[in-house]
Amino acid sequence: MCGIIGYVGGRNARDIVLEGLKLLEYRGYDSAGIALVEDSLAVYKTAGRVRELNMLPKSDAHTAIGHTRWATHGRPTAANAHPHLSFDGKIAVVHNGVIENFAVLREELAAKGITLLSDTDSEVIAHMLALENCDMTEAVRRVGERLKGAATFLAVKEGEDKIYIRRFGASMAVSVGEGEGFCASDVLALSPHSDRAIVLGDGEYGVLSASGLDLFKDGRRIKKQPILIRCSPPKDCACHMSAELEELPEALQRTYDSFKNFHIPSELAGAKRILLVGCGTAYHACLYGKLVLERETGARCEAVVASEFEPDANEGDLAIFVTQSGETADTLSALHSCKRQGIPTLAITNVAGSSAALEADSSFLLEAGAEIAVAATKSYCCQLLALYLLAKKRAGHAVEQSEISEVKRAAREALDAVAYEERLMNSKLFFIGKGQDYITAREGALKLREITYRQADAYPAGELKHGTIALMDEGAAAIVVATEERAKCRLVATVEELRARGAYTLAVSCVGEIGADKHILLPRMREEALAPIISVLPLQYLALTASLTLGLDPDKPRNLAKSVTVI
Ligand code: F6R
Repeated sequence: MCGIIGYVGGRNARDIVLEGLKLLEYRGYDSAGIALVEDSLAVYKTAGRVRELNMLPKSDAHTAIGHTRWATHGRPTAANAHPHLSFDGKIAVVHNGVIENFAVLREELAAKGITLLSDTDSEVIAHMLALENCDMTEAVRRVGERLKGAATFLAVKEGEDKIYIRRFGASMAVSVGEGEGFCASDVLALSPHSDRAIVLGDGEYGVLSASGLDLFKDGRRIKKQPILIRCSPPKDCACHMSAELEELPEALQRTYDSFKNFHIPSELAGAKRILLVGCGTAYHACLYGKLVLERETGARCEAVVASEFEPDANEGDLAIFVTQSGETADTLSALHSCKRQGIPTLAITNVAGSSAALEADSSFLLEAGAEIAVAATKSYCCQLLALYLLAKKRAGHAVEQSEISEVKRAAREALDAVAYEERLMNSKLFFIGKGQDYITAREGALKLREITYRQADAYPAGELKHGTIALMDEGAAAIVVATEERAKCRLVATVEELRARGAYTLAVSCVGEIGADKHILLPRMREEALAPIISVLPLQYLALTASLTLGLDPDKPRNLAKSVTVI
């Protein structure tokens, strides 16, 4: 959450940082700001989006840092936007994370006569740096040691073409070029400038200048090798969510190709219990993973929401972490507790060089391509495919290209299916399924809530009669997902029960008609376990169309951010 970026070198720092902030905006977009090292420090902040900063005057500064915010402490106002200046106006700071002991630090500053101008936790860093009477790199170390919680920050000082960097608890990557250097919260923002990045680890800090990066840990100089950045900046488009959905067939192919080169960790073969951990949409992928791994391999599996995860390590455990960004704080915290307990870990992620990719014992890269829209779409489908491939591999079965081609063809058809109807949006809306289709129903409801702000819930078909059916009347509508032949009779009965109470029913089905008022018929899949990759598409499109029809921005829904880096 929050994106931070810095540039130092021969080019125009203002323009480069503003461009970079646009690429980081999916991490948070309630306010933004930039600090330029001119004769003195020039700071510009807005309570709006990054585009508002385009208004700021031209500058020939060679050093700048910028920030795009997702508010934790303090409302999204210009005063609370970053960068924050120190009391003497000589240091500017941008921060990503949450400083847990900020109340104590604030009191200490107040006792020294320093009044904070914002409600943020972050502002303390600027004042604390200015109070240290030493070299800035050492000041960064000292201040860093006093901050509890997640505190990754960048700082610039008046009169210096240098960026001071510290990482703790939120990601930070650096690219060094000929006479210039870039640093940013994620490699996507570096990708227009370099295909390599040094990914900092927790507790590492240093100084970036036109002549390179000096990196330290615990007072000692360290050297780190850059990794290859395997992503390219997304093309400009009116709606990223729509473009990302359209790209699904190619993304699925890339996931399949990536899997061919993946060496399955030996612990997977012998695992007695497989834990699958993720949040939100990624958790739904975990539910699917549990189902497909149990069905294919007979292994005992548990899917757990990362924020609820409390591992009790057993001999033969393996933990799989599903995370598009690889930076979700709840997921990383669960990963860290598994590592502390000696449970082998595997990350399934879309971002090379992300914390999950680097910290898990092994990692599988989805290669779905950059996902900018806050609502996960193609990455979810690629996560399902990856988990299916993993289950098949562990069961000793090869998945042929012909199967993937069938899924891609079916995806193309499903992408053209129109599920949106005005009456759905004017009704109490329910998503219904059984088995694997209940997972799809949950994902469909989440997508709708997330980008339309409308209430929608998901229920297992057989569960309705235990209470929720009381809500069914002429004002209700149910979207029923059906992809498994063995569940068809149950779903036909459910649809009948719903219609008998006056509810409108729309079926998304790979198994033919099930007696609903309207059917979206999708191709019947040879391998039913692959159908959830297809059946979720009309639901994702429904949410997208509804969001656009309501005049909302599906790429940047309120209160959300792509990468949830706070606990
Ligand atoms: C929903 C959505 C979120 C994420 C969740 C985990 O569309 O995108 O629910 O799935 O925040 O994010 P990652 O996968 O990056 O760990």
